[in-house]
Amino acid sequence: MRLDKLLAHSGYGSRKDVKQLLKSARVVVNDTKVSSGKVHVDPEQDKIYVNDERVEYEEFVYFLLHKPAGVISATEDMRDQTVVDLLTEADQLRSPFPVGRLDKDTEGLLLLTNDGKLAHQLLTPKNDIGKTYYAKINQPVTEADRVAFKKGVVLDDGYQTKPAELVILKSDSISEIELTITEGKFHQVKRMFEAVGKRVIYLKRIAMEEWTLEPTLAKGKYRRLTEAEINYLQQLK
Ligand code: URA
Repeated sequence: MRLDKLLAHSGYGSRKDVKQLLKSARVVVNDTKVSSGKVHVDPEQDKIYVNDERVEYEEFVYFLLHKPAGVISATEDMRDQTVVDLLTEADQLRSPFPVGRLDKDTEGLLLLTNDGKLAHQLLTPKNDIGKTYYAKINQPVTEADRVAFKKGVVLDDGYQTKPAELVILKSDSISEIELTITEGKFHQVKRMFEAVGKRVIYLKRIAMEEWTLEPTLAKGKYRRLTEAEINYLQQLK
């Protein structure tokens, strides 16, 4: 890969910033000072330093975003703001994409990565990755609904859902629930409630596998996964 690309991907700014950096700073590749970004380097083999600081290149990036409503789970869109637009320019350079989709009006936890293999492992129903949603429902939610979700309900297209765990937090004219599912059919939570004659009026993903949406992460904000979290993910690959 080109040195300027590697430096841009390692947090040294845009390609333009990197060009400037190569002129003004001491950039060394395997003991040789380099001032052209065109030089090809191997991030696995070559030792690269900027002003004596070793450049640690990460091939993959992993972000945990608190998705706000009104933003779409895509990498680009002509009309709407996307989840990728919420990342800094430097982080966008790594070409992350959302792991699965939350509807435009759904809030909550969304992982973004450029690690396609990992994304697949998190999305395949074979791996039983649990996703927990908090929702408000437009009428009382009952024990019968809990039993129905446990058995699996039939969606509008005839698909029978896998067993899901429904916890009723409040059953009233506006109910509050938590639902854990291990698959991710299009509009699944909304359609599961439709299957029992009810409507989701607010939806937020609060957990996925290892992660819960921490209260300190404000809507629209994101953080990098820690090394321990990334190591955990690697086991899934
Ligand atoms: N189920 C839905 O209906 N919508 C989402 O955004 C996620 C799960």
